[in-house]
Amino acid sequence: MGTMRSRRSLADTAVGANQPRIRNPFIAGNWVRAENFFGRDGLLREVLEGQRDSLWIVGARRLGKTSVLKELEYRTQQSPQSPFVPLYWDLEGGLDARGLAEGLLSSVEDSEPLRRAIDLAVEDLEGLSVVDMLATLVRRTVRSGWRLLLLLDEGEEFLTLARQDVGTLLRMRRVFQKGPEVRTVLTSTRRLGRIDDAPEYATSPFLQGFVPPLYLTPLTPDETRALLARGDFSDADCQAILERTAAHPFLVQLIASRLFEVNDLAAVLEQVGVDEMVANFFSVDFQTLEKTERRALEEVARAERLTLRQVSQKVGIPEDALAPSLVALAKMGYLTPDRDGYRVGNSFFARWLSRSQALGAAEAAS
Ligand SMILES: Nc1ncnc2c1ncn2[C@@H]1O[C@H](COP(=O)(O)OP(=O)(O)OP(=O)(O)O)[C@@H](O)[C@H]1O
Ligand SMILES: [Mg+2]
Repeated sequence: MGTMRSRRSLADTAVGANQPRIRNPFIAGNWVRAENFFGRDGLLREVLEGQRDSLWIVGARRLGKTSVLKELEYRTQQSPQSPFVPLYWDLEGGLDARGLAEGLLSSVEDSEPLRRAIDLAVEDLEGLSVVDMLATLVRRTVRSGWRLLLLLDEGEEFLTLARQDVGTLLRMRRVFQKGPEVRTVLTSTRRLGRIDDAPEYATSPFLQGFVPPLYLTPLTPDETRALLARGDFSDADCQAILERTAAHPFLVQLIASRLFEVNDLAAVLEQVGVDEMVANFFSVDFQTLEKTERRALEEVARAERLTLRQVSQKVGIPEDALAPSLVALAKMGYLTPDRDGYRVGNSFFARWLSRSQALGAAEAAS
């Protein structure tokens, strides 16, 4: 264990000299922020310093959507010059107006800094509808000299609300888009795009103002190396992790976390390649994509590398209609540009795609 000494010193700074165990510095699963958050400077700056007051951040599952919102909350709270007071609101489970009101109330309950900044007690909101709660929050924020930074997580929930209670959805949107008093940041997978396919929105699409979306990308190689430096791994191991994960932050953290425990990269890569939890997250993630996007990915996986023209021929969609989808898939890390074409974004996803196709074919044949 030649790296033991430096690992201990790392643990000392991380958890204090009295801690007997060497703490694993990698986090694979929960959202991260502050010193555990890496990269994404351009995106954070665009939200905090840009001109847009309605931003939609689209990202694959486990690519770091919640972490971005938590980091935005953290940075705003840490920065005395910021004009914003942040409110993180997880929409999950808010199937109807009632559920949303409860969720919003507990977000306010969880955010002591917000209540202090705008001089608001939880009781001031109790009994109000979700739309009135939002309006009250905005009013109080403005009265206290702030702007509200609304950080909405799990935006897919609006698809359900659109089916159950369009009126509430449209009234909420009016608050989200109240201009400079409110800056709304909404995260979701691409699936939320379907909300505007419903006929009710023909004249007034829900995502109007939120489009075009900002895409959450994998990390850059440098950001990934900075993260991996926490493990004090060999350069060769870092390079191999970077190549196999294509800087997908969750995969990087998962592999690094296990490597930190067992110190055998080949074994860890093999283990992660057959991990049920990882397969499950690829599968859930894949279902958030449009049918043609899924077919395009399957074709690229089968051929290993395809140009736009080749994908277009295989899926039967003209190149100019297909190109924006492939660009978006590449931004989100599902595909990686390779010379004049594309291959699948990272080796684990490629392996999962080939396997699930083989399974699908076997099932169809039986
Ligand atoms: N900026 C980052 N720096 C370091 N690690 C990150 C970063 N963003 C995400 N991760 C890694 O990815 C994992 C998932 O992050 P997070 O929960 O924010 O993703 P998500 O997109 O919200 O996931 P879900 O789709 O499940 O809601 C984290 O536990 C961490 O391992
Ligand atoms: Mg999340």
